[in-house]
Amino acid sequence: MKVLIIGARGMLGQELVKVFSAAHEVVAWDKDNCDITKKDEIHGQIFSLHPELIINAAAYNDVDGAEKEPKKANLINGIAVGFLAEAAEKLSIPIIHYSSDYVFRGDKIEGYAEDDTPDPQSAYAKSKFAGEQELRNNCSKFYLIRLSRLFGKMGNGEGVKKSFVDKMIELSASHHRESDSLKLSAKPLLTPPIPTEASEQGEIEGVKEFKLIDEELSSPTYAPDAAKLTFEIINPSIFPRNVNLNKRDGILFGKDGGVKKQMPFGIYHGANSGACTWYGFAQEIFKILNLPTFPRGINFSEKDGMVFGKGGGINKNVILKPVSAAEFPRPAARPKYSILLNTKLPKQRDWKEALRDYLTSFHS
Ligand SMILES: NC(=O)c1ccc[n+]([C@@H]2O[C@H](COP(=O)([O-])OP(=O)(O)OC[C@H]3O[C@@H](n4cnc5c(N)ncnc54)[C@H](OP(=O)(O)O)[C@@H]3O)[C@@H](O)[C@H]2O)c1
Repeated sequence: MKVLIIGARGMLGQELVKVFSAAHEVVAWDKDNCDITKKDEIHGQIFSLHPELIINAAAYNDVDGAEKEPKKANLINGIAVGFLAEAAEKLSIPIIHYSSDYVFRGDKIEGYAEDDTPDPQSAYAKSKFAGEQELRNNCSKFYLIRLSRLFGKMGNGEGVKKSFVDKMIELSASHHRESDSLKLSAKPLLTPPIPTEASEQGEIEGVKEFKLIDEELSSPTYAPDAAKLTFEIINPSIFPRNVNLNKRDGILFGKDGGVKKQMPFGIYHGANSGACTWYGFAQEIFKILNLPTFPRGINFSEKDGMVFGKGGGINKNVILKPVSAAEFPRPAARPKYSILLNTKLPKQRDWKEALRDYLTSFHS
């Protein structure tokens, strides 16, 4: 099958190219050879290529930036998705597109199922929801896959951003002493990038303290897992074996062969299982990197050359301090709870296991 992947240099796009190339003829486009916001141009390119499947991983992903340039975000994440959907409809082919947990309001502690009603609260969230609507309104054969907190190898487009995980790795590397057991391949930076969900608080006795938001519960997504899941939706015979035999939504999940029918068009949630706050995410990163964190509530004191933080974990160089989102004003509102419940697809592996895989591959 001829598969067109747009946004192919992004974090997810590059993983999609890898996974789909193993079984399909892949044509990979990014901003250097197409612009999805120019309707006539992109239609002309797609119609002359005549793909059998379009996967759109192109996006405007700067959540806070969207507050300043909402039109640009809406053009890329919203209107342009309609152009691609129209092209897919004219060719009578399926299109796969990605959205975000941020489309939800964020007050459902237990999380959101695929058919829950979005209620976007920021310019970025509104632009992603506009894309969902453009997709539904302009084509009939669509897969809309919502993801959250994507991490993985950084893309190589001009505007791609480092994931939270990579920023935390750099922070830990930049405060890493020679004597520590941690050996990172990343070169320490003079000015470490501070994730928007964390801030540098100051230095006490040579120990850096970082505040991290201990709210905004959501499910991290490992980009290679999301790419595999996308492949499995289209090529369902390779669903994992350990899925219990049951019938859900008319689809049979097999114990030892997986589902045999292509998934019906519609909305899916493709994040890894489990959930965490930003603080929990950082703690796990430090734990896997062998930088032990300590339980909360330990008083600030120095013992055996180690500084223990009042409210957070610590290693010899960095204290992770949990804070509320209210203490951390950012331009765009974020959902407080936005776990993506997956009620349609086989369960994805736990985010901690995926994180371990990523951090292991990072070192290799
Ligand atoms: N990252 C997350 O945490 C996250 C969370 C939830 C959902 N998602 C969704 O998951 C999908 C993949 O995200 P990602 O993080 O892999 O994105 P990414 O790394 O930012 O990659 C997006 C790619 O799209 C390209 N692009 C931007 N504007 C374009 C245009 N007008 N025409 C053609 N290409 C264009 C970008 O090129 P330049 O870099 O050169 O601009 C970049 O290579 C997106 O739909 C995103 O909204 C992401």
